[in-house]
Amino acid sequence: MPIVDIHTHVYPPTFVDLLRSRTTVPYIRNFPDAPDSARLVILPGEDDPSMPSTSRGRPIGPEYYDIAEKIAFMDMHQINTSVISLANPWLDFLPPEEAGEAAVRINNDVDGLCAKYPGRLFAFGTLPLSGPVETVVKEIERLKSLKHMRGVIMGTSGLGNGLDDPALDPIYAALEKHEQLVFLHPHYGLPASVYGPRASEYGHVLPLALGFPLETTIAVSRMLLSGVWDRFKNLKVLLAHSGGTLPFLAGRIESCIQHDGHLKNAGKTQNRRDLWDILKTNIYLDAVVYSKAGLKAAFEASGADRLLFGTDHPFFPPLEENANEWHSVTTNYKAILASFANDQLAVQNVFGNNATRILNLHT
Ligand code: URA
Ligand code: ZN
Repeated sequence: MPIVDIHTHVYPPTFVDLLRSRTTVPYIRNFPDAPDSARLVILPGEDDPSMPSTSRGRPIGPEYYDIAEKIAFMDMHQINTSVISLANPWLDFLPPEEAGEAAVRINNDVDGLCAKYPGRLFAFGTLPLSGPVETVVKEIERLKSLKHMRGVIMGTSGLGNGLDDPALDPIYAALEKHEQLVFLHPHYGLPASVYGPRASEYGHVLPLALGFPLETTIAVSRMLLSGVWDRFKNLKVLLAHSGGTLPFLAGRIESCIQHDGHLKNAGKTQNRRDLWDILKTNIYLDAVVYSKAGLKAAFEASGADRLLFGTDHPFFPPLEENANEWHSVTTNYKAILASFANDQLAVQNVFGNNATRILNLHT
């Protein structure tokens, strides 16, 4: 059974150089109190000076940038093919005048990494979203010419005002026209105030387990409410972490829409595509949710032919020294196998057939 990992990140060498050249988030730095171990500091709030530098962000080793490590990880977990993507925060932080050129450099770099392992690596490109709209559209068009690119990865900030911003319409139009799937991935989480004054005692649990999925859920709900899929009926979006909490909350979102007087008066409760339709037509979900309960919601919402295996490598490594298998991977394997215990075809679809079909990975 071919196994395809569609949620797996890299920071290619050109991006590592960029992060090393910076002193504000996001950055990579060797702090004086631990000069031999570099730290990757990317999330909002990870740079809090009250935190000792040795626990800021996360350690970064070659698993983040050495493509041979990716292949070794794939071999260890019987993964045949990976669709790699630049990890957050992508190019969101770049000054507008640098974004276009950086996207070209990094996308070429990632395409080149894929070329080293024919048939084993494909990629989602990255967009210069802090730059002018025309530059973003140009890069979407250019990505079509790169052999290994199969869509784009994007965060939830869009051009700075979120994914319900009408200024994104030319970008959505270009993605739809060029049949580029968007892999939508969180980064910004929720405002730090919701985690409370004791947040620093809780490591990364609240932002990663809850901030990330709620960020995705809110971003997609804003796309829905602003009519993105009424205007772009063929726009395809793959949601990270099984859609955040979208499959679980879809009923509530739809009910709130139907009971909203403001929307009714504005004529927005009629003649619209509902979330259930979009979940089964435009949205794909990764299977990175680590439980049967989460997979069940994803399956109910979108169907087993729209669920795709992923690992989130190189994030969530085992914390034990010298561990071989990654728990973050085997937990998802087991959840998929248990969820579709009586349906071997569904298992094969989720592990690889769906990705091969949807992303055209036939070699
Ligand atoms: N943490 C991140 O910052 N990104 C991921 O993709 C996973 C965990
Ligand atoms: Zn990820």
